[in-house]
Amino acid sequence: MIMHLLRKLLVRGAAKSPSLRQWSGSSTRLYINASFPFLLSRPRLPMLLSSRTYEAEHLVNKLPKLQKIRTLEVSGIDKDHPARKTSPSVKITGVAMSHKTGMLEVSWKEGKTDIFPYVWLRDNCLCPACFHAASNSRIHPIKDLDLSTQPQTLQVLEEGKQLEIVWTDGHRAVYPAAWLYSHAFNETQRLAQARKFRLNRSYWGAELLKNLPQASFHELLIDDSALLSWLQQLEIMGFVLVTGAPAEPGQVRRLAERVAFIKKTHYGEEFTVKAKSDPSNVAYLSGTLQLHADLPYYEYKPGVQFIHCVVQYEGTGGESLLADAVHVAHQLKTLYPEKYSILTQTPVDWFDKGVDELGEFYKILQIPMICTNATGEIQRINFSQPQRNSFFSIPAHQVAGWYDAMVTYHRLLSDPSYCLQFKMEPGNILTLDNLRVVHGRTSYISGPGERHVEGCYLDWDEVRSRRRVLELHLEAVSQD
Ligand code: OGA
Ligand code: ZN
Ligand code: ZN
Repeated sequence: MIMHLLRKLLVRGAAKSPSLRQWSGSSTRLYINASFPFLLSRPRLPMLLSSRTYEAEHLVNKLPKLQKIRTLEVSGIDKDHPARKTSPSVKITGVAMSHKTGMLEVSWKEGKTDIFPYVWLRDNCLCPACFHAASNSRIHPIKDLDLSTQPQTLQVLEEGKQLEIVWTDGHRAVYPAAWLYSHAFNETQRLAQARKFRLNRSYWGAELLKNLPQASFHELLIDDSALLSWLQQLEIMGFVLVTGAPAEPGQVRRLAERVAFIKKTHYGEEFTVKAKSDPSNVAYLSGTLQLHADLPYYEYKPGVQFIHCVVQYEGTGGESLLADAVHVAHQLKTLYPEKYSILTQTPVDWFDKGVDELGEFYKILQIPMICTNATGEIQRINFSQPQRNSFFSIPAHQVAGWYDAMVTYHRLLSDPSYCLQFKMEPGNILTLDNLRVVHGRTSYISGPGERHVEGCYLDWDEVRSRRRVLELHLEAVSQD
């Protein structure tokens, strides 16, 4: 039956199917009709069905026949081997060795050339003795790597789709042309890899208030493409306002589990922000919560934060504040370069000490307010008036200069041209990059019908990993 429908669809050349969300309520037969061209056009059926989306589980449960197809497709195929990931359009038209430079020059059908170091080629042999395909791992012993190895013979096979190298020690390696092409040492491939690694940030100021990045809670739970675009936005913009969650506790976990697993801290997995009489954190007071990034005292500071408004304060107050602290740091660098270098070079003692439900804690981290990497790019902002220790591990004569720089930075962060202010509604979840964006809250009066906020964290490693997996399946990006 399925094959019959499939053939019919192929003949008709049916268009790509609509999103999974639209199929989820449909009948078995409709689903098959709608989805087969889509499933065929991108060979991702196994991944899709094994992914943990609501629809996939729903469909697998409803469609035992489809499940069988999945098993058939996967069995007997080493689906992970790089040699399977070839693209028919990439072809090698020539190869030339240069023992002088230790490089192999490969000419491509499209007219370009790339050079590959011999030692890299040998290290990246894809044969089963050198590379374990199922685990995507190099396994040959480093001690056996001959740094002066050279190709003995070269042969272009399968009309340019493969390159065979026999090395001086007699070891034979075969490289698919498409694999070599996508691993070439050129700017295009470097940029493609950089995008996989991290999406470029798009900086913003208060003008963003007119057009807040938003996502629908309901769609995020049921639609993988909505999930992907939310994660991409979160990485690019540093925050997205998720709307339409139920105004009851437990929603941050539901959302987090669509991505990965919650990053636990000494405040627990989920934490509740309500005015408390004996609080372990100033957020549990009803006063103003100055602009800050959470948990500056963690070396592995949770990268992503969710803040769910369960009950909002109905009077004036309890509003959220947000600023792109990396963008503002760039402004600081332009306006006051010396203050910027003070904040990037002076270690600050961040700390948190107390007792919460999980027990007693005493955290310390010495790290600057603006952390940069070797190329000067900002990696992480630490900003928290309450969580800065009175102990300051710097010479006394540097202290006043540091305060001056910090106060200038704070003035810029709070400037109405950089800082957004808006009131979350019950059911809104603020999702933000805790390494880049600072947030705060205006004061409110605690009383009956208390303001109630619930939060949790995730790690960027997990969030980016989920983004890449979704891109692999939904956008057919090139594989490694
Ligand atoms: C926090 C926090 C914001 C709020 O708990 O760290 O920033 O709106 N809360 O209560
Ligand atoms: Zn090998
Ligand atoms: Zn906070």
